This record gives sequence, structure tokens and C-alpha cells, in this order.
Amino acid sequence: MTHEEKYLKNELLKNARKPEGKLGGKLIDMMNENHESLVQWSIKHLDVCKEDVILDIGCGGGVNVERFLKMTENKVYGLDYSDIAVEKSAERNQKEIEDERCEIIQGSVSKMPFNDNSFDIATAFETVYFWPDFVNDLKEVRRVLKDDGIIFIANEAVPVKDNGRQKEFMELLDAKIYSEEELKDSLCRAGFKDIACFNKESTDSFTGDLATWICAIAKK
Ligand SMILES: C[S@@+](CC[C@H](N)C(=O)[O-])C[C@H]1O[C@@H](n2cnc3c(N)ncnc32)[C@H](O)[C@@H]1O
Repeated sequence: MTHEEKYLKNELLKNARKPEGKLGGKLIDMMNENHESLVQWSIKHLDVCKEDVILDIGCGGGVNVERFLKMTENKVYGLDYSDIAVEKSAERNQKEIEDERCEIIQGSVSKMPFNDNSFDIATAFETVYFWPDFVNDLKEVRRVLKDDGIIFIANEAVPVKDNGRQKEFMELLDAKIYSEEELKDSLCRAGFKDIACFNKESTDSFTGDLATWICAIAKK
């Protein structure tokens, strides 16, 4: 890869933390496609009922909001702090927004504009790497969940020792990759119970490198 190609790829990738402008829109379109396999695999571990009110945090381009709208007959909310993510999610789910079955809200996971005990399920696909204060942010998710509500986290990576490429990406994105132990410990410290994690050996959708996928599920 030439220096210029690497620079452009990095500029695009930087948008994973908070998509912005044209490049952010382009990355969102790519993530909608690239994350599909991770979602297809991980979501098998999540039971969704027709009555569930669902929140997708860090909803990006809104494909999972769209997916959940087909799995529940109740309301689905998407939350993201990025302008372009909110715009694209809203565009994708326009009809359900008009039908008042969906809301896309701009905001940070650290202080969500929802009442206590609002949701049956809160999901976070490929986003916790960027949450600024993980345990407190999980406490905030717990606050908005109903009693016995479920938090569901799916990540395409766990930390790999001496993986220079992973280290480079994480520095570029100012991101934190969590191990199974760290996920479990953080969920426990935030007050969640019945914590379980599942893994799958696969590949990183952006680099094509071997990667361990992980999803964590826990109850309020
Ligand atoms: C890598 S993208 C994943 C998007 C989508 N969940 C998917 O799987 O395609 C991460 C998303 O999380 C959002 N995000 C990151 N930190 C956030 C925070 N503190 N509060 C709300 N959204 C956040 C970003 O704006 C971005 O849209």
C-alpha cells in the first residue's frame, strides 16, 4: 500500500469513533455491510419477544434498528452521538418513524435522554470500544433498562498480545478492546447479573486478519 493509500484508509477508519461528513457517511455504509456477519452470529444468543422495547446504542447506519423493528411489534430506539449516523439511521427507518414505532435520538451513552426502566433490551454492536467511561456508561445503560432487562454487547475483537496491527488501529482510533474477563468484570461492577460471554474465531471485517468475535449478555 502506498503512503497516500494508507493515509486515506486511516482517515476513513478514524470515523469509526464518531462518523463525520462525507467520509463518515462512506464508513457507515461500509459498516452496515461489514458488520452483518458479526450481527448474524451474535444475535442468535439474544431472545427477542414481540413485546420488547429495544434500544440500539451507537446505532451507526441504523441497520440493527431496522432488524429489530422486524423482530418486535413494540418500539425500537436508536441512539448515536454522531450527526451523520443519526441522519442515516433516520433515513433508513423513515417509515417506522412516521408510524411512531421508531425514534432515532442524538446523544451520548454516558447521559441518555430516557427515563429509568424504559427498555427490555439494550444492544451495543461494535461501539463499546469508544465509550468514555465504560463502567459508568454501563451503569447508565442499566438505569434505562427495566428490571430483568437485557444488555447485549457484540465486538469483533478481543485483545491479542503482540499484535502490532491491532495496537496501531486502537491508537489511531483512541479505542479500547475488551477481553472476556474485562467485559464480565465491568458488567458485574455496573450491577449486572447472569453474565455470559460467547466467542467465535473469525476475521476482522476491515483488515481481514484473524479475529475472535465476542458477545456478552447480562441481566439488570
Ligand atoms: C464502529 S461504529 C458501529 C455502528 C453500528 N453499531 C454498526 O455495528 O454498524 C460505532 C458507533 O458508535 C457510536 N458511538 C461511539 N461512542 C459513542 C457514545 N459515547 N455515545 C453514543 N454513540 C457512540 C459512533 O458514533 C458510531 O456510530
